[in-house]
Amino acid sequence: MKKFETNAIRTQLEKSINREHSVPMYLTSSFVFEDAEHMRAMFADELEGNIYSRFTNPNTSEFIEKMCLLEGAEAGYATASGMAAIFASFMGLLKSGDHILAASSIFGSTHTVISKFLPKWGITFTYADINKPNTWEGLIKENTKMIFVETPSNPALDIIDLEWLGKLANKHNVILNVDNCFATPFIQQPIQFGAHLVTHSATKYIDGQGRVMGGIVLGTTELIKEIHTFCRSTGPSLSPFNAWTLSKSLETLAIRMERHSQNANTLASFLEKNENIEYVRYPFLESHPHYKIAKKQMSLGGGIVSFEIKGGISRGRKFLDALEMCSLTANLGDTRTIATHPASTTHAKLTEQERKDVGITPGLVRISVGLENSIDIVNDISQALEKSN
Ligand SMILES: Cc1ncc(COP(=O)(O)O)c(C=O)c1O
Repeated sequence: MKKFETNAIRTQLEKSINREHSVPMYLTSSFVFEDAEHMRAMFADELEGNIYSRFTNPNTSEFIEKMCLLEGAEAGYATASGMAAIFASFMGLLKSGDHILAASSIFGSTHTVISKFLPKWGITFTYADINKPNTWEGLIKENTKMIFVETPSNPALDIIDLEWLGKLANKHNVILNVDNCFATPFIQQPIQFGAHLVTHSATKYIDGQGRVMGGIVLGTTELIKEIHTFCRSTGPSLSPFNAWTLSKSLETLAIRMERHSQNANTLASFLEKNENIEYVRYPFLESHPHYKIAKKQMSLGGGIVSFEIKGGISRGRKFLDALEMCSLTANLGDTRTIATHPASTTHAKLTEQERKDVGITPGLVRISVGLENSIDIVNDISQALEKSN
């Protein structure tokens, strides 16, 4: 069994007759058959191979194979975005009459899918509080089919004990579905702790350079088969171009996550001592309420730092306007440092109370710490804090 970095770099499609070193792009919608019998056998699933890029494509297959190795999963399906992966994991496996238990601290669009769309198809939901783990078992019902969590969560950086949750899900025979977008498989592998499915917004750290959208759902062969059938018919597939880009990006995931975490740690330590800050959240700061769990299941703290600026929303906006280098944009996990204000952007569709429940206070700022020199990152944030005063 090869190591993480080696798998991320050396898992490649077989060379073509051109003996290329770097895998080429297979920008083709469909694949030709040898003859009528070959075509029949392919459609009958008697032979393996590519038919049509909505089903499979060589670039997508390479990306999936790598991600399976990195997450320790048996199978996967790659989608056009992270939300498509999450939605497919629900639609492929849940039916009318089922119940989903989800952590209340989750990404805004996932929250919308669970609370606004799933009920339309007769799938009910309950949100559970990460800070009250002893209430979770009581929230599992006869018809609970899936538990969905995000750890660390976006943007409050709550951490859930995956070992505990894996045991709980398995005790009740419920599918545990973990959004591993913030940690990436380099930092945390939920399947090791008993998760049955892992979803990703590959748009974030997996691309890592703010270029393409993508998503993936990984897990057991049995579960992925259902999800694959749903996707093959409904069409949320990842484009071959994006799959090629994402597979290339994985070659540098380990080295990028190390530097993102190092820079984020430097920024978090700086902010913790800064008088303009109410509180700072970073998984590897001892002051984080779930520090011990983070240390148990994550190898590094990751690249996201959240903080509450003194003076609430109006000071928060002044701070964002005073930034000179950091970008104001909706993405995260980029080489460029990004600042966002979740209450007025990613989580704006939630009610004030819903935002409060998921730990989003009005002055909460989320920094996706990039790969610029950490001195320049800290200097920009420091000068903006001063100017916002
Ligand atoms: C934790 C998390 N999950 C899922 C998504 C959705 O991914 P995408 O934007 O690729 O659809 C995001 C996007 O920000 C996210 O932060």
